[in-house]
Amino acid sequence: MKLKIAVLAGDGIGPEVIRETLKVSNAIAEKFNHEISWNHALTGAAAIDKYGDPYPPNTHKTCINSDAVLFGAIGLPKFDNDPSAKIRPEEGLLRMRKKLGLYANVRPTFTFPSLIDNSPLKRDRIKGTDLVFLRELTGGIYFGEKGRKENGNVAFDTCIYSRNEITRLAKMGFEIAMKRSNKLCCVDKANVMESSRLWRETVQSLEKNYPKVNVSYELVDAVAMRLIQWPNSYDVLITENLFGDILTDEASVISGSMGLMPSASIGDGIALYEPIHGSFPQATNKNIANPIATILSAAMMFEMSFSLKEESDLIRKAVNISLEKGIVTEDISSIRKPFKTSEVGDFLVNQILISN
Ligand code: IPM
Ligand code: MN
Repeated sequence: MKLKIAVLAGDGIGPEVIRETLKVSNAIAEKFNHEISWNHALTGAAAIDKYGDPYPPNTHKTCINSDAVLFGAIGLPKFDNDPSAKIRPEEGLLRMRKKLGLYANVRPTFTFPSLIDNSPLKRDRIKGTDLVFLRELTGGIYFGEKGRKENGNVAFDTCIYSRNEITRLAKMGFEIAMKRSNKLCCVDKANVMESSRLWRETVQSLEKNYPKVNVSYELVDAVAMRLIQWPNSYDVLITENLFGDILTDEASVISGSMGLMPSASIGDGIALYEPIHGSFPQATNKNIANPIATILSAAMMFEMSFSLKEESDLIRKAVNISLEKGIVTEDISSIRKPFKTSEVGDFLVNQILISN
């Protein structure tokens, strides 16, 4: 099969984790006789430096001319620490999500048996956790009207949702729930926010179309607590953009490290695959970042964009072997001399090539 993939490595550790992911994906291509063309393009701070734009038109063109997009990470402290910065790298990611119509972010949270003791949470609480967040990605407070007034002394951000935006996301949630255990949780703040009341109303009106699915409605503050107290009580969770951003970082603690969890951003057209972690600037160019989240994002890509299930399963199998053998980076290593980012990649490549 011929695969045309746009690669946006981005900032911080992005290029390093992407480098390992391309190595692993190329090993998959070799093993299964696929031909991958990688189309690199700039985004984030690197694109600001070169074009003064974190998502320049030629990057958008590269994305829409590809079959899928693989994304590293975005963001640099020099922008975070400058509240008056006119352009920010993150804007690139947000604009890209909007322009590519990536309204649903699928973020699985699961545990690896060999890493169960890496989590600060108690083993009996998290054992067997396997849940999926469906985070709305192109609406809410991220995209609502924002600004300053009264000479800059008052600032505001607006959380705005339309019934259509909620419906398309919720439908996807119901579909995913039906492929799993028919359990869906709608996370909102309907006791306070009007937009949350529209979420609840919209999801309630869809229930009749999915009679097998059991829907619960829970407030985000309570979910934040129960998620780490009894993660096994959840299966599929749907929620708006900002709640989903926060809850998925929290949920990554269950797996043992932020460096492990992949994601897929999907819509009606092309899909984008990215780790849920950020650019981890302190680790840049040290060859210490965990590449697994990005590598597992590529596994999601093979499966979801190309229906190459065997290929994605082989990546997951190799990752499991590396975790079992302790061929891992320092964030999850228990030994004094942990493995480097590139060593983890080399190990996975070898595992893939020697598998039968
Ligand atoms: C994420 C990130 C982004 C977000 C940032 C970098 C804009 O935290 O993908 O979760 O908030 O969506
Ligand atoms: Mn986030």
